[in-house]
Amino acid sequence: MCGIVGFVGKKEATPILLEGLRRLEYRGYDSAGVAVYDPERGLQVVKTKGRIQVLADQVAARGGLRGQVGLGHTRWATHGAPSDVNSHPHVSENGRIAVVHNGIIENYAEIKEFLQSTGVHFASETDTEVVAQLLEYYYHGNILDAVTKVIHRIQGAYALGIVCADCPDRLIAARKDSPLILGFGEGFHVLASDVTAVIEHTREVCYLDDGEIAELTADHCWVYDAYLRPVEKERRHVDWEISAAEKGGYEHFMLKEIMEQPKAVRDTISPRIQDGRVVLDGVELTPEYLKNLDKIYIIACGSSYHVGMAAKYTLERMLRKPVEVALASEFRYCDPIVTPHTLALVISQSGETIDTLAGLREARRLGARVLSIVNVVGSTIARESDNVLYTWAGPEIAVATTKAYSTQLAVVDLIALYCAGQMGTVSRAEYDALLAALQAIPEQLETVLERREEIQYLASIYFNHPSVFFIGRNMDYAVGLEGSLKLKEISYLHSEAYAAGELKHGTISLIEPGTLVVAVAGCGHVFEKTMSNVVEVKSRGADVLGVTVDSRREAMGRTVDHVLTVPDTETALLPSLEVVPMQLFAYYVALMHGCDIDKPRNLAKSVTVE
Ligand code: M6R
Repeated sequence: MCGIVGFVGKKEATPILLEGLRRLEYRGYDSAGVAVYDPERGLQVVKTKGRIQVLADQVAARGGLRGQVGLGHTRWATHGAPSDVNSHPHVSENGRIAVVHNGIIENYAEIKEFLQSTGVHFASETDTEVVAQLLEYYYHGNILDAVTKVIHRIQGAYALGIVCADCPDRLIAARKDSPLILGFGEGFHVLASDVTAVIEHTREVCYLDDGEIAELTADHCWVYDAYLRPVEKERRHVDWEISAAEKGGYEHFMLKEIMEQPKAVRDTISPRIQDGRVVLDGVELTPEYLKNLDKIYIIACGSSYHVGMAAKYTLERMLRKPVEVALASEFRYCDPIVTPHTLALVISQSGETIDTLAGLREARRLGARVLSIVNVVGSTIARESDNVLYTWAGPEIAVATTKAYSTQLAVVDLIALYCAGQMGTVSRAEYDALLAALQAIPEQLETVLERREEIQYLASIYFNHPSVFFIGRNMDYAVGLEGSLKLKEISYLHSEAYAAGELKHGTISLIEPGTLVVAVAGCGHVFEKTMSNVVEVKSRGADVLGVTVDSRREAMGRTVDHVLTVPDTETALLPSLEVVPMQLFAYYVALMHGCDIDKPRNLAKSVTVE
């Protein structure tokens, strides 16, 4: 979604803003812009539809933008098509106040109508422009006063960056339900949607909370609540290396991140296994609490939801407690049955997905305890959870998640083992076997990655199939969901995932000669059942690519056209290995189609609007 970067200091702002925007490109965007206060010429704005390079070229064509205070923005269109005029920054009619915004102003139409009735003319179709014009309406010499009036008038989600030409030594920021961080440096301050934009300049940051307003100059930072009462903020040090946000010789971030999975999973599990037991420090899952648990409600979106689908099988089998998996966008409006004995397990890479955050808040409101699995340290979901287990995947830049998905699975496995240990629901022998198998996963991931040329070859055979179905049962079905999403989001091929036994209840009518079916069949107890479904699609002319474990290569190979295998492991851990051929297959298919793999069309890395 939209990305914000702001700078105030004693250096030229424009290069810092453009570099920050480049680092925010991964969030997904369709246009970009900058506003810089030039002491001689006042507020200068350059904005355009298209890539950051187009913006940089336009800035250069104007001989650069001079000034030490400024804002930059990447826009992911919601209200109004991607266009030069709808790009941010938006400026009040008299050019005094420039605004960048991430989020949606839900009551913008009513405010726009009101402002138009007072004679204000709007230039764009965006919801954001009402903020710039409303600030001007309320501005009577004190920009902070105007900001407080505006935030009490607007509804919806916003992270705002503001520059006012009357106080050109400062940036103003405000936030509600959209992420915004402040960065501290020697003689400068920055603001940004996430740390990747500023990590080159500072590692000392703080996270604005909902309803807060920040005022930044080169040397000072003040944070206030929505009534301008001062707020003390805790500073945090960011450990991420800048190299983690660079491609390091790979053609795409997605491939780099796929290849990083053994390390990411190792980093996630190793510190949490001590003396043959899973240790989850700071997580309050006591035997007493677990005994009285009525349900685990998993709340997530997209791939994180698919982790939840796999988690349901593992947690129910190991804990014998009901697990419900909800799409966060549905959960928040479905009047869910949640009690103080419900554990809400919230899964999110970014920790900022607006639906997931709203689901978390709803679960808390209904009395559930919230345990979250999050990758981005200090993100809103992490901060609002009762307990958080971080995935140590490092920054994930490609829009299509890979290493975050794998580390989320690993944390689910740790939770399952930990709770089973607390509750005594699995035997010591089973616990030990699962733990040993989990510890072997990083090495087994390396084995799967070594087979990537075979996957690339199969992608070259199948990349032109216009429609792909993924089928599987049990955990294999959960993996199929993820495989299908990976393929469609980066290669734009039509693809669907089905529980293999469900196909014959309608969807099999779509199978015809030449349709590609990816059959995932690692789970031993349903292998024969899935193979029966494979025979059904084969006899209707489908081409079938099978995915199973090494020990069933031959058995599967007798029926399907090609087989990919992963090392044998415990059933509960199969998704961790099976997903990798899916990721690589999607990657190579997209590559062969010449797609923009790291920045697929229409998609954003972090979905901060509903
Ligand atoms: O940051 P989150 O895990 O909350 O994001 C959820 C989804 O938006 C995300 O998994 C999305 O589906 C990915 N693009 C899938 O690759």
